[in-house]
Amino acid sequence: MNDFNNLRSVRSLPLVALLIGVTLWAQVLSPEAGAAPKADAPKAAAPKAAALNGEQIFKENCASCHTGGGNLIDPKKPVKGSAKLASLVKFKDYLVKPTGAMPPAPKIANDAATLDALYKYCKTLK
Ligand code: HEC
Repeated sequence: MNDFNNLRSVRSLPLVALLIGVTLWAQVLSPEAGAAPKADAPKAAAPKAAALNGEQIFKENCASCHTGGGNLIDPKKPVKGSAKLASLVKFKDYLVKPTGAMPPAPKIANDAATLDALYKYCKTLK
C-alpha cells in the first residue's frame, strides 16, 4: 500500500513540475499577454472616445465603401445628399436595416452619442 502511494506521488512529480513550469512560463509571457489587451484597448475604447468625432467614426466604419461620402460599390447611392439623412430617426433605421449590399451597423445605431456624431458628420458631406 505504502509502495503504491509512493509510486503515485513519484509518478505525479512530472505533472507537478509541468504545472510549475507552465505557471512560470505564463508569468514570463504575461507582460506580452498583458500588452495584447492594452494594444486592443484603444480600439475597444474608440467608439466611446470617438463618440464626439463623427469623421473618425465614418472613417473607421463607412469610408471603406463610402470614400469621400460617395459609394464605391454603387456610385448612384452615395451617402452625401442621401434621403436617408433627412432625419436622425431615418438614418438610424437605415443603419439598423439597410438596403442592398450595405451592411447593418447596429452597434453605431444603438449608441446614441456615436449615432449622433456620425449623423452630423454625414450631413456635412458634400
Ligand atoms: C461594405 C460596404 C459598405 C459599408 C462599410 C457601408 N456602406 Fe453604406 N452603402 C453601401 C451600399 C452598397 C449601399 C447601397 C445600398 C443599396 O443598394 O440600396 C449603401 C447605402 C448607404 C446609404 C443610402 C444611400 C442612398 O441614399 O441610397 C447611406 C446613408 C449609407 N450607406 C451610409 C453608411 C454609413 C453611415 C456607413 C457606416 C456606418 C456605411 N454606409 C457603411 C455599402 C456600404
